[in-house]
Amino acid sequence: MNLFWIPWAHPVVILCLSGFSKALLSADALSRRLNPESDGINYNPNGSEFLWLPQDTYEGQTFFEYASIITLRHAALMFYCSSFNFFSAPDPTDGFVNFVNASTAFSQGLAYVASNGTVVMQADDFTTLPLGTYRDSVRITSIKTYTTGLFILDLNKAPWGCAVWPAFWTVGPNWPAAGEIDVLEGVHDNQHNQITWHTANGCFLDPNATYTGMIVQDNGTNNTDCYAELDSNSGCAVTEWSTASYGPYFEAQGGGVIAMKWDENSISVWSFYRAAIPLDITAGTPNPSTWGPPSATLLNATCNIDQYFANHSIVFDITFCGDWAGNSYATSGCPGTCDERLIDPANFVNATWSINSLRVFRKEPIAAFVSKAQHFGEAVYWPYLSLFIFFMFGGFFGLLT
Ligand SMILES: *[C@@H]1O[C@H](CO)[C@@H](O)[C@H](O)[C@H]1NC(C)=O
Ligand SMILES: *[C@@H]1O[C@H](CO)[C@@H](O)[C@H](O)[C@H]1NC(C)=O
Ligand SMILES: *[C@@H]1O[C@H](CO)[C@@H](O)[C@H](O)[C@H]1NC(C)=O
Ligand SMILES: *[C@@H]1O[C@H](CO)[C@@H](O)[C@H](O)[C@H]1NC(C)=O
Ligand SMILES: *[C@@H]1O[C@H](CO)[C@@H](O)[C@H](O)[C@H]1NC(C)=O
Ligand SMILES: *[C@@H]1O[C@H](CO)[C@@H](O)[C@H](O)[C@H]1NC(C)=O
Ligand SMILES: *[C@@H]1O[C@H](CO)[C@@H](O)[C@H](O)[C@H]1NC(C)=O
Ligand SMILES: *[C@@H]1O[C@H](CO)[C@@H](O)[C@H](O)[C@H]1NC(C)=O
Ligand SMILES: *[C@@H]1O[C@H](CO)[C@@H](O)[C@H](O)[C@H]1NC(C)=O
Repeated sequence: MNLFWIPWAHPVVILCLSGFSKALLSADALSRRLNPESDGINYNPNGSEFLWLPQDTYEGQTFFEYASIITLRHAALMFYCSSFNFFSAPDPTDGFVNFVNASTAFSQGLAYVASNGTVVMQADDFTTLPLGTYRDSVRITSIKTYTTGLFILDLNKAPWGCAVWPAFWTVGPNWPAAGEIDVLEGVHDNQHNQITWHTANGCFLDPNATYTGMIVQDNGTNNTDCYAELDSNSGCAVTEWSTASYGPYFEAQGGGVIAMKWDENSISVWSFYRAAIPLDITAGTPNPSTWGPPSATLLNATCNIDQYFANHSIVFDITFCGDWAGNSYATSGCPGTCDERLIDPANFVNATWSINSLRVFRKEPIAAFVSKAQHFGEAVYWPYLSLFIFFMFGGFFGLLT
């Protein structure tokens, strides 16, 4: 967080952690008239109706840092909050990687927002290394945590290439007690995205559920056990059917959208290459019940979702070699050894996240929605409205009276 020290700093910190400025989005959504045709009404399995309402948007110049304002009795203070922490410890998955801190990431151009608003995170693709040296890269963790939500990532490129192992995932505290959901992950020049769950003991994939992917096998049989401590932390995984879900062919399509829906009924993932993105996603009123069968799903019937998943941060990373890309290197068809591959920066020109936006939506039952909409404008929303008025003037910096 980037902030001038003031005596009232304590409430400021709380505002940052709760993503206060982004609550404006929800207030805005609540002020709209409810329109069943276009507003994306969804149905629970028992028939009750709900909406996915905007909760947080990570995009453009505000992806890594966002502006927030505190209003005091006769004053307003604008300041910046970080959305993500940069992880700079050794890679827990044994990658041959040096995760850099925020200042190095921004100064070396490993993380930046392009002038057109595209968010880029990439491997070092400009330094020639001696054999046996780790390559610089980036891993970021959202400060805000989520329990349930609809996460919609729109990207132009996901990293790929021999020795490269990227992931977009969510994870809770005390691994694996609060679960891990790997939404987009692969190695080398694979073409099929792999979706994986890692949990405490007692959570299983239902092989009879409806989804289009294939359960990943262990010793020749479908592995439906998500318990993280089994089989070298393999978790339970599903590979996508589509060859345009990871790697070169995904990139050649101009990327697309990967969506993860996590609620009390299931955790499901859909991927759409750019030309196939549903209109309700583009319109900002996502309705997963109209998207057809997911690529992968974990049903509450065989895994009590509330029990195994909670308080997840969102993570993006790019690592090299290590537990997956290293152990699979010899059989991948990639040249030489994984260590040798690290030497030449030209091998990492495609090891880049290029992101348009990450939008998080929260589930709102229709009954609650209607009653809140009726209260919009009454006392409870005044703090949001006064913030909004300050945003309209824009550019406040420092103390105003
Ligand atoms: C229907 O299911 C949803 C979640 O699946 C639950 O929150 C809601 O209370 C249920 N409604 C009824 C009437 O059972
Ligand atoms: C970031 O990493 C660089 C290189 O390791 C180091 O010199 C610098 O002190 C670090 N900055 C912070 C704020 O930790
Ligand atoms: C935006 O800028 C990035 C980085 O310079 C570039 O790779 C990308 O193609 C640009 N996108 C558009 C739509 O121009
Ligand atoms: C999630 O966070 C809430 C609120 O901080 C806490 O009560 C709960 O125990 C946490 N759950 C897990 C599994 O960490
Ligand atoms: C899946 O279906 C098969 C065949 O109907 C059945 O034997 C099996 O118990 C089912 N598995 C689960 C987890 O429901
Ligand atoms: C393994 O799972 C796939 C779907 O992922 C299914 O088509 C296949 O029948 C399963 N095999 C066995 C032996 O259950
Ligand atoms: C697969 O085989 C290995 C070695 O034989 C064993 O340790 C592991 O438990 C097996 N996995 C399953 C799911 O049976
Ligand atoms: C999810 O599974 C748990 C445990 O079986 C059950 O208590 C709960 O009612 C289920 N939730 C839904 C929404 O079906
Ligand atoms: C990077 O992507 C381009 C376009 O698909 C491809 O021609 C090139 O071989 C790739 N380079 C590496 C090192 O993977």
